[in-house]
This record gives sequence, C-alpha cells and structure tokens, in this order.
Amino acid sequence: MNHKAPLLWIFLQFAAALLSSTHGENAVLKGDDGFDELSPNSSALGAVKYNMRKSLDLDQVGCYLQAGKKGCLEECGFNATTKTIFIIHGWTISGIFESWMYKLVSAVMQRETEANVVIVDWLPMAQQLYPDAVNYTHAVGLDIAAMLNWLQDEQQLALQNVHLIGYSLGAHVAGYAGTHVRGTIGRITGLDPAGPLFEDVEKERRLSPDDADFVDVLHTYTREPLGVSIGIKRPIGDIDIYPNGGEVQPGCTLGDVLAVAGNVMDMMKCEHERAVHLFVDSLMNRDHVSFAYQCTGPDRFRKGICLSCRKNRCNNIGYNARKMRKRRNSKMYLKTRADTPFGGYHYQMKMHVFNRKRSDNAEPTFYVQLHGAHKDTDNILVDVFEGDIGLNLTNTFLVFTEEDIGDLLKIRLNWEGEADSWNSLWKNLKKSFWGWKAKPVLQVRRIRVKAGETQKKFTFCAEDPEKINISPGESLNFLKCRDGWEVKPRKRLPM
Ligand SMILES: *[C@@H]1O[C@H](CO)[C@@H](O)[C@H](O)[C@H]1NC(C)=O
Ligand SMILES: *[C@@H]1O[C@H](CO)[C@@H](O)[C@H](O)[C@H]1NC(C)=O
Ligand SMILES: *[C@@H]1O[C@H](CO)[C@@H](O)[C@H](O)[C@H]1NC(C)=O
Ligand SMILES: *[C@@H]1O[C@H](CO)[C@@H](O)[C@H](O)[C@H]1NC(C)=O
Repeated sequence: MNHKAPLLWIFLQFAAALLSSTHGENAVLKGDDGFDELSPNSSALGAVKYNMRKSLDLDQVGCYLQAGKKGCLEECGFNATTKTIFIIHGWTISGIFESWMYKLVSAVMQRETEANVVIVDWLPMAQQLYPDAVNYTHAVGLDIAAMLNWLQDEQQLALQNVHLIGYSLGAHVAGYAGTHVRGTIGRITGLDPAGPLFEDVEKERRLSPDDADFVDVLHTYTREPLGVSIGIKRPIGDIDIYPNGGEVQPGCTLGDVLAVAGNVMDMMKCEHERAVHLFVDSLMNRDHVSFAYQCTGPDRFRKGICLSCRKNRCNNIGYNARKMRKRRNSKMYLKTRADTPFGGYHYQMKMHVFNRKRSDNAEPTFYVQLHGAHKDTDNILVDVFEGDIGLNLTNTFLVFTEEDIGDLLKIRLNWEGEADSWNSLWKNLKKSFWGWKAKPVLQVRRIRVKAGETQKKFTFCAEDPEKINISPGESLNFLKCRDGWEVKPRKRLPM
C-alpha cells in the first residue's frame, strides 16, 4: 500500500467519527434498552479468537482457547492458579497485528513467565469503518466476559488474577468485558483509550473505574489536530497518567517523524502508540521505575508544583503501578525521554528573586545548569510557565533531566546563558542600552530543591554569601548550604 491511501482514509474516518459525534450520539448508539439488539452479531464476521501464547517465538501460531471446549485448556497448558493476561488490540486499517503487539506480548511473557498470556483477536470486526468498529466493541466485550465466565466455571479461575490490557478501542472492549463478567476483574489497563465517540458518553459505554478492581490508564494522545482527540482526554480510571501532559510526546513531533521519512499519520501513530511503548518499558526496565505525580492539570505540573509522594500522590507508571482507590482527582503527570528507557528525573526548584535596586527594566531569562556527582547538565531554561520570572516573588519551576546526574552538588544560575547566543545582536543592543541606563541587578540568595524521584529536599545557598547579585550575562553558583542543607520534613513547609 502506498502511504497516501491510508492517510486519506484515516482523515475520512475521523471526519466521519466527528460528524456522528456532533450530530448526537443517537446516530451511533441508541438508548440504553435497545443496546444489545443494536450490537452487531459478532459471528457474522467470524468469532473472537483467543490466542494463547506458548513460546516467545512469535512466529509460532500458539493455541486457541474456545469456551465450551475443555480439551483446549489442557492442550494450551492453561494454568488457572496463575495470572491470566488478555491483550486486546484496537481499530485496525491493515487487518493484521501491528508490530507493537509482538513487543507487548513478548515483554509480558518475559516478565510473567508463568502467566497465561492471551491475545484477543477481533481483527475482522476492528477492520471496519471506525464507527462500525466502535459498534463492535460491546459484542467483543461480551464475548470476553463469556470466556472468563466459562473459565470460572470450568477451572475455578479467580478473576482477581485476571488483567486485561487494551489499546485504543481495545480499552473500551476491556471495559465492556469488566461490566458483563460475573464478578470483578482484578485489573484493566487502558493504553491510550480511543477518544472519538467515547469522549462524552456515559461511563457504561466506555472504560470506567467500575469495570475492574483497579483501572489504570495511560493517555498519550489528547491533542485535537482534527478537532477530535484520538485518545480520550477525560480521566476514566482509578489513576489516569498523562505522560508529557498527554500532549506532544518527545520524539513524535512532526519534525522528528519527517526526519525518518514519516508523514502526519506516522506522527499520530507515534503518539497514540507511545502508551504501549511506555507500558513495555515498565515491564522490561524494572530497575528504572518512572513515577507519575498527582496534579490538577498539566500547567501546574509544568510549574513544578506537583512532585509530592505524600498520601499516595505519586505512583509507578505502567505495569508496576500500585493499586489505588479512585480519588476525586485521578490525573497524574510526568515527563519522559523520547526513547526507552523513558524515565528521567524531575526537580522542583524555588527561588525568590529580589529586586532591591528597583531595576525597572529587568526581564530576566534565567537558565540553570545542574552539576551532579556523575554528570553535569546543559543549560536548562527556567520555564516559570506563565509569563515572566516574578520579581520580589518566589518562582517555582520544574527541571527535568534525562540522565541520572547523581547527587546534586551545585547549581549554576545564568542570566541569558551561553545557550541563547542566537540573539547576540540584541544582547549587544541591550548592553549599550544599559550602558546609559543602569544595568538591572537582581538578587538570588538560595534555591530550594526537591527531587521527585527521591523525595529529598535540599537548600542551595550562594557559593559566596557576599555575592548574590546577578545582572545580564552573569551567573551565580549555589552550593548545598553549610548547615542543614537537607531540609527535614516539617509539618508545614514555609515555602
Ligand atoms: C451500529 O450497529 C447497528 C446495528 O447493526 C446499526 O443500526 C448502527 O447504524 C450502527 N452504528 C454505526 C455508527 O454504524
Ligand atoms: C448470529 O448470526 C449467526 C449467523 O450469521 C446466527 O446463526 C446466530 O444465531 C446469530 N446469533 C444471535 C445471537 O443472533
Ligand atoms: C501453575 O501456576 C502456579 C503458580 O504460579 C505454579 O505453582 C504451578 O506449578 C503451575 N502449574 C503448572 C502445571 O505449571
Ligand atoms: C521589590 O521590593 C523592594 C523592597 O525590598 C522595593 O523597593 C521594590 O520596589 C520592589 N520591586 C518591585 C518590582 O516590586
């Protein structure tokens, strides 16, 4: 297939989805009562298949479980006393498994060597026009529920040991399975659950916290390039993790994708599929766990306000997530790298910028450079997010490093550091400007730091207590304060 045909197709699909959603969901799914009737008869397109994986060699066909056929359980080596993990794909254009499926299956099998790992294959129903594929999610969910009921009857399978992992539309399939099964499934993971036709429907018609004992969701594509978000934006689980705000994923910008000869569709796929790759990463890199932090929104997270782990406010992402009750705000955030291992290091920094000299022309652009026991970072822009650095105010900002720099030893604060040599002309202009108008002078005495990953707090003081003034083109060094630089947790921190 050439690249243009599917691209056009996907646009038409989403346009269709958008139209049906704006013209009322009635066009798609009628009232509560007629729902079962409205669901297409799945056997018309062939049955849902349960492909139990027996070897890591993914070219091996595996073995099919069939409800009502006891023989297949033994043949497949189904072990009812261990974990059972169902992996459910989403909408498909090609009608074949995409490469992520193999990565995910093999990561699950390597992590849980005893588990029953089953691919739920509903490809014929998923390879329909998007609204039709949406229509089939209910029937497929019912089918999975029937399979699980049969396993409970036949093998005394404990539903608590069942984990459904659904990608895109597959997440909502898992939701229906959880609704209709007899009992409560242990866990459902939604990997960027589909947004179109699900964003505004009631919780019975999409994945929701009621569908399992623990429902965790990764949201990686919540932007709206076509007026409709491909991944669902609203929180729908017990925890809802939005890596990089659920917005642009590093390595997935149009520029990144074009650099490897991709197109807009590859960009969309990169972001949507990132949820799967983050999950795979969590299965494979156990020694490099990434944390997500509860926050009311991406903007506050970007300001560095939310890096607390108190009272379960942080959790591991992906497979290692700890079970948590649904709370009023289930949204959690983190920043990631562009590739595996995706985890990095978050620092909250706070500094009070004094304007004692009453410099009225000071609009500082600050950079920090972190010096660690292992490594130093480059200059990192102090992004206070909303507008400018506040003068006579405490500024809070988030610093993210991709690498483990080790113990933080020194912070260098630069006013327009080397990093923005791009406008040296402007700089020179400013310099001559300041030549006749007093050069702005600001003061920073200390920087308070909290490391998200270790939850440790430190205070850094100016290296030379006599030198706390900073002007354009200058820098200040901060070292751990001599006494009591590690801040002991107090009831109420005065910052
Ligand atoms: C969903 O399926 C029902 C019954 O097959 C059909 O009447 C309805 O039009 C379908 N919805 C869409 C959006 O195709
Ligand atoms: C589904 O369709 C098949 C034939 O396509 C039919 O034999 C079967 O009875 C139908 N099932 C239901 C529940 O309507
Ligand atoms: C089934 O799984 C349990 C728990 O992991 C294990 O102890 C047992 O040996 C397994 N049985 C077989 C037949 O593999
Ligand atoms: C900052 O506070 C100083 C007093 O410490 C005051 O003189 C100055 O005007 C204030 N500057 C601004 C911009 O508020």
